[in-house]
Amino acid sequence: MGTLLIQGAQIVTMNDKQNVFTGDLLIKDDRIVGIGEDLSSEGADRVIDARGKVLLPGFIQTHVHLCQTLFRGRADDLELLDWLQQRIWPLEAAHDEESIYYSAMLGIGELISSGTTTLLDMETVHHTDSAFHAIAETGIRAVSGKVMMDHGIEVPAPLQEKTERSLEESVRLLEKWNGYDSGRIQYAFCPRFVVSCTEELLIGVRDLSEQYQVRVHTHASENRGEIEVVERERGMRNIVYLDHIGLAKPNLILAHCIWLDEQEKTIIRERGVKMTHCPGSNLKLASGIAEVPDMLSRHVPVGLGADGAPCNNNLDMFQEMRLAALIQKPIHGPTAMDARTVLRMATMGGAEVLGMEEEIGSLEVGKKADLVLLDLYDFHTFPSHEVDVYSRIVYSATRGNVDTVIIDGKIVMENRVVRTLDRNIVLREADRSIARLVKRV
Ligand code: GUN
Ligand code: FE
Repeated sequence: MGTLLIQGAQIVTMNDKQNVFTGDLLIKDDRIVGIGEDLSSEGADRVIDARGKVLLPGFIQTHVHLCQTLFRGRADDLELLDWLQQRIWPLEAAHDEESIYYSAMLGIGELISSGTTTLLDMETVHHTDSAFHAIAETGIRAVSGKVMMDHGIEVPAPLQEKTERSLEESVRLLEKWNGYDSGRIQYAFCPRFVVSCTEELLIGVRDLSEQYQVRVHTHASENRGEIEVVERERGMRNIVYLDHIGLAKPNLILAHCIWLDEQEKTIIRERGVKMTHCPGSNLKLASGIAEVPDMLSRHVPVGLGADGAPCNNNLDMFQEMRLAALIQKPIHGPTAMDARTVLRMATMGGAEVLGMEEEIGSLEVGKKADLVLLDLYDFHTFPSHEVDVYSRIVYSATRGNVDTVIIDGKIVMENRVVRTLDRNIVLREADRSIARLVKRV
């Protein structure tokens, strides 16, 4: 792959010192090998002139469902359990290999073009190989896994799994994909949520995730109806139950965590559990507002994610950052969730949630070269004179400012065009795929 020098950018490192300066960044193969004020271009295979642009670590989204991208606009204005039962599960049940592939391609196209370089993805029950193929081809960094569901009411027959089969299929996928492309792709066990899982399945996941040393990703305490079902069926609050069966450990990543009591917050903190905040989804599904400032003050790692396209309806980290900041302010005052805190959540926070803080999340020598170049020369991002760069990125910039995206040292988007997929084919096949699915529902 050789060496690539990015010259003259305003570099927002997101390192511990929060250094911001104008300078150069040198990439060799998949890693950052130099950052400085005046690096020599001698010997560089390629030089990108980034003067006037802003360079920052790629966004890390810690909760996305690529398999749901095709359902965008087909499940609006519903609460979680109705949304799942009436719309999402029947559509997931209708998926085929090709539709999963184009659902993932559409989602990845949107993610890359809005600056996301890593995602934690939860697929559906079947055809998960197709999503991994899309991830492999497009070059995005991903932790993903098939969803697991062997329990629950109003689940369409194709999504009802036998416990053993669900575990076996997860292990088959794990053995095939975990570590692919020097670790760019990793596997995570994804039991959907307690409502969809028997205790036997959850305990199986606990044991296998220990055996294979991989993460567990699930939804938790997103909706009041959900936690009532858990309390009724398992006799405990949701997080207390996860702890009771031994799942509350540092490899557990929980999406949402809106309806927590003090005991549950303590469990999350003491067991080293990680959390993902999805403000767009939480507002649109009328789920509630997660107590993110409180969790951050307890030093719980918190990442950001868009969730699936049908509950957002975009996969755009700029929108998620803006919402993450704004929704706390009426409750906690204007200084809660300032721009720098939010950008940290979108980068290093995500890396911590994934346990990848040594590899990604900031621009530092030795880390993977996952980065985004923003062109803020536009009406909505001016004036620039002495304006705080965190403010420009979080409060004013949009996906339209994303110019170049590099993942694992490879240029996957350049001059605002995603290079690793064919946009016209993906858009056409996405429409053809959903047309096929809706006929089956
Ligand atoms: N809880 C269980 N499944 C889902 C899902 O697909 N999306 C969201 N937002 N919450 C869930
Ligand atoms: Fe979700």
